[in-house]
Amino acid sequence: MARRKIGLIGAGNIGGELANLAVAKQLGDVVLFDIPQKENLAKGKALDLEQSTALSGCDARVTGTSNWADVAGADILIITAGIPRKPGQSRDDLVATNLPIIRDVADNAKKHCPDAFVIVISNPLDAMVYEFKRRTGASRQKVVGMAGVLDSARFALFLARELNASIKDVRAMVLGGHGDDMVPVLSYCTVNGVPIRQLISKDKLASIIDRTRKGGGEIVGLMGTSAYYAPASSSIAMAEAFLFDQKRLLPCAAYLEGEYGYKDLYMGVPVVIGAGGVEKIVEIELDDEEKAMLKKSAGSVQQVLDVVKKST
Ligand SMILES: NC(=O)c1ccc[n+]([C@@H]2O[C@H](COP(=O)([O-])OP(=O)(O)OC[C@H]3O[C@@H](n4cnc5c(N)ncnc54)[C@H](O)[C@@H]3O)[C@@H](O)[C@H]2O)c1
Repeated sequence: MARRKIGLIGAGNIGGELANLAVAKQLGDVVLFDIPQKENLAKGKALDLEQSTALSGCDARVTGTSNWADVAGADILIITAGIPRKPGQSRDDLVATNLPIIRDVADNAKKHCPDAFVIVISNPLDAMVYEFKRRTGASRQKVVGMAGVLDSARFALFLARELNASIKDVRAMVLGGHGDDMVPVLSYCTVNGVPIRQLISKDKLASIIDRTRKGGGEIVGLMGTSAYYAPASSSIAMAEAFLFDQKRLLPCAAYLEGEYGYKDLYMGVPVVIGAGGVEKIVEIELDDEEKAMLKKSAGSVQQVLDVVKKST
C-alpha cells in the first residue's frame, strides 16, 4: 500500500508538533502548509524534521509549502490555520480573524482534497468546524473538530494527580462546546471502572472541573500563547483512529442532526472514528445536571454560530 498523505494546514506551533508526531509515528508523508509569508517557516520545519528521519529510520517525506497543489490528494487534513489566543482573550474573540481564514482553507480543501478526512483544530473550534463543513458541503462523516479529546486529557491528568493514580487507569470524558462551560461528565468518569465520585470528594471534584474548564487559559496565561503539545497529541489520536480503522470512541465535535436534542450545530459528543471517518454518534444517558450543563454549553456554541451565520 502506498504511504498515506497527511496535509497539515498551518505550520505554526501545533502544526509543527503535529508534523513531529506524524513522522515519529510513521503515519505517512507529511505536507506542512502555510501562507506565502510563512512558507519558509513551513519549509524550514519540514527540512529539520526530514533530517531527523536519518536517525529514526523513518522513510516518510516531509515537505513545506504554500502551494495547495502540493497538498492535493491528501488522505487526511488537520487544520490549525488561524491565530491562537493571547492572555485575557476568550476563544470566541478569535472569530473576526479566523473566520476568513477558515473560509479560505475550506475553499482550497474542497478544490484540492475533496476526499480527505478533515480534523479542524482552529478556534473558536465549534464555530470553525461548522463553517468548514458548511462552506465545503462535505458530509458530517468527513469533518470533525478536535476539542473533547484534549479537554478529557486535561481532566484525566488532574484526576490522576489528585489520586496519585496512574494516568493509564483514568477514564474521563468532557462533552459540549470547547469553551468555559464545557461539560466534564462525572457519571462516566472512572479509575479502571471505579466511579470517580467514590474516590474524590465533591468539593475537590468541583475544583478539578473548574481547572479543566480553564485549562487552556491557564497555559495561555503561562506562555502568552496557546498550548500545542497536548492539542497535537489529541489530534494525532483521532488521525490514527481514522488511518488504522481503530473504531475508537472519542469525544469530538460532531455535526448534530437531532442527537442529544440539538440540530445544525457542532458540539462535543462521543463518536466512533474509523476508516469511514465519524462512523457513528453515540448517544449516552446523561443525568439531569449533565443535561442542564450541556444545554448551557450548546447555548454558548449557538451564540458564536449566530455571529458566523450573520456574516455569510
Ligand atoms: N481545538 C483546540 O482544542 C485547540 C487547542 C489549542 C489551540 N487551538 C487553536 O489552534 C489554532 C492554531 O494554534 P497555533 O498555536 O498553532 O497557532 P500559530 O499562530 O502558531 O499557527 C497558526 C498558523 O496558521 C497560519 N495561517 C494563517 N492563515 C492561514 C491560511 N489561510 N492558510 C494556512 N495557514 C494559515 C499562520 O501563518 C500560522 O503559522 C488557533 O486558532 C488556536 O486557538 C485549538
